[in-house]
Amino acid sequence: MLGAVAHAASVAGVAGAAGVASAADLGRHLLQLHGLGAPALRGVLARARVYAGHDADGAHDPASWRDRLRGRVVANLFFEDSTRTRVSFSLAAERLGARVVNLTSVGSSVSKGESLVDTALNVAAMGVDAIVMRHKSSGAPHLVARALDQRQNALGSGGGAGVGSSATAARVPSIVNAGDGKHEHPTQGLLDIYTVAQRTGRLEAFDLSGLSVGIVGDIASSRVARSNIAGLVALGARVVCVGPPTLVPRGLASLGAELTSDLDGVLGGLDAINVLRIQFERHEPAGGGGGGGAVASGGPAVGNVIASVREYHELYGLTLARLGRMKPSAVVMHPGPINRGVEISSEAADSVQSAVLAQVRHGVAVRMAVLEQCLGV
Ligand code: CP
Repeated sequence: MLGAVAHAASVAGVAGAAGVASAADLGRHLLQLHGLGAPALRGVLARARVYAGHDADGAHDPASWRDRLRGRVVANLFFEDSTRTRVSFSLAAERLGARVVNLTSVGSSVSKGESLVDTALNVAAMGVDAIVMRHKSSGAPHLVARALDQRQNALGSGGGAGVGSSATAARVPSIVNAGDGKHEHPTQGLLDIYTVAQRTGRLEAFDLSGLSVGIVGDIASSRVARSNIAGLVALGARVVCVGPPTLVPRGLASLGAELTSDLDGVLGGLDAINVLRIQFERHEPAGGGGGGGAVASGGPAVGNVIASVREYHELYGLTLARLGRMKPSAVVMHPGPINRGVEISSEAADSVQSAVLAQVRHGVAVRMAVLEQCLGV
C-alpha cells in the first residue's frame, strides 16, 4: 500500500507536471480541491449549473450534449465500494456521449498482484481517455497521474504518441480522484459546495462569503471534509469543524477551518451543516473488539474514538430538536452513506431542510462538468 511518503512525493510530482489547473479551469487531472483557486472552482461549478438545469437521468438533454464526449472512453477503477460516486460518474459520462467501462479489484488482475500503476498503464494502453479512480490509500490517484505524466513526457519528446510506443498508441488519460483514503474526494466537495450555493441563492457567482458551514463528525477519517474545507474556504465561506477531539484533528486549523467540540454552541450560527458518518472501518477497535459491529448493536464497542454510539448521538447527532435550534433556512447535508440514528436521526435526514438527495442529483451535473473540463472539451 502507499505510504505517506509516496503520497507526499506524488502530490509534489503532479503539482509540477503538465496538465495542472490553470487559473480558470481544472486542468487535465482532478486530484484534489486543495490548491485550486476560486476561478477554477467557479468555472467548473458554473458549467455544472448548466447541466443541473436538466433531469439527472438525461431524458430531456439537448441532443448536442451527447456529442461532447462522443468517441471518448471513461474507465471507472473502483478499488473501494461506492454507490453514489460510481453510478453518477457513469451517468455523467453517458450523458455526454462517452462509453464507460468498469473495473474493480475483485475480478481484475489486481487480485493476482498487479500493481496499481501497471493496472492503470494497461487500461491507458487500451485507449481510455479518463480514469476515475477510488482507492483506500491516500495519494493513489496522484501516484498514477504522475506515472502516466512521466511516461508521456518520456515518450512525448520522441513524437508525442502518448502511452505506448507507436503512432497508434493510446492517448494519455486524465485521472479523476473519486476518493483516496482519508485524503480528498474532490467531486464530492464540488457537489456539496454546489448544493450550499443552490440552497442559499449563490448560484450566480458562487461567492460564499458571509456563509457559515458546519462539518460534523468523523473528520479525522474524512476525505469529504478535506475537499469541502478546501473548496468552501477558497470561495469565502467560514467553515467550522465539529466533533469530539478524537475525531477532529487540530491540524485542520491550518486549512482555514475553525474547530470546536461544542455542537450546540455553534448550531444557531450555521447556514448549512454537513453531517459525516463515523467510519468505524478506519478506526482501531478498542481492545480488539469489533468496532464496526457497534453500528448495528448500538453497544459500547466502538473503538478508541467515542465512548458509545448512544453518547455520540446525544452529543453530536443531528436530531429534530437540534434542527429546531438552527436557522429555518439552514441546509442539512450528508454525503452518504447515512447511518440513521447515529450521526443523524431519520427525521432530520428526511426533513424539509434536508438536501441529501439534491446533493446526489447535483453530483451527476458536477461530474459532467469535471469530465468535460479534464478532457479538454
Ligand atoms: N459520497 C460517496 O462517496 O458515496 P459512495 O461511497 O456511495 O460513492
